[in-house]
Amino acid sequence: MSIVNAKEIMIEAAKNKYAVGAFNVTDLLQFKAVVEAAIETKSPVIVQTSVKPSQFIGTQLMVNIYRTLAESAPVPVCLHLDHCTDIDYCKKCSDAGYTNIMIDASKHSFEENIRQTKEVVDYAHSVGNISVEGELGTVGGVEDQIVVAEDEAQLANPQQSVEFVERTGVDIFAPAIGTAHGVYKTKNPKIDFERMATIHKMLNSNGIKTPLVVHGGTGLPDDYIVKLLEAGGAKFNVSTELKHTLIDAKWEYISSHRDEYDPGKLDVFVRDATRKAVIGWMQKLGSVGKA
Ligand code: 13P
Repeated sequence: MSIVNAKEIMIEAAKNKYAVGAFNVTDLLQFKAVVEAAIETKSPVIVQTSVKPSQFIGTQLMVNIYRTLAESAPVPVCLHLDHCTDIDYCKKCSDAGYTNIMIDASKHSFEENIRQTKEVVDYAHSVGNISVEGELGTVGGVEDQIVVAEDEAQLANPQQSVEFVERTGVDIFAPAIGTAHGVYKTKNPKIDFERMATIHKMLNSNGIKTPLVVHGGTGLPDDYIVKLLEAGGAKFNVSTELKHTLIDAKWEYISSHRDEYDPGKLDVFVRDATRKAVIGWMQKLGSVGKA
């Protein structure tokens, strides 16, 4: 039985200076590939669904797939709802059996963000062993139904970050530090490593052990990943890369097997490509062998 919430595996990661990979999936094939990658590398893992795929597949069906895969996996697996702006859907997913919920109220004022985040924290904690992620500042780019223009993305203020975590009681915290959803437009995106490290230190010096999340994993250069791990990143979100892997692998297979009509073979090709991409991330994040 390896159903866990995100906080417990991230605290362990933060203590030992590695991070847990959090991979957005849109279908069962990707879900299975991510869990298989975790088993193969003995890594803890977070599988995430954005709101649209969760609703498309069906909340309870998603949870049932998760429970079935996680219960037989010999590694810890968390099911995370990503960037949900709707408090009622956060509650519905808590009831259904997601084990980490992200309420994204970051587009609201500081006070309203605190109010909405705390409402979800209180609810999820009353349901059971569920951790909650909150965000301060805004992450640029496109993720599911959330679109933030580059020039509108705002970084998290360190002092406010401490206040946000204290007042909401969030279990894991995503401060905006300049990373973005989607494909980075330059080879050297401007990331505020200092800000991340400062927030990490300020939380710790206030006795708060809330682990930090890095959004916008796709395309981050390797040396940036190392710096973000040093600065306290304990969960790295990867979505766009897996979407590209899925579609590119399907395209590659179909275009070179145009006369074949065997979906099983296509599935194996896509699963293997996805598993390879996820294992690459687990190696970079240092989670291999940690489960
Ligand atoms: P990417 O799509 O850039 O990998 O970001 C994923 C993410 O942060 C999901 O919350």
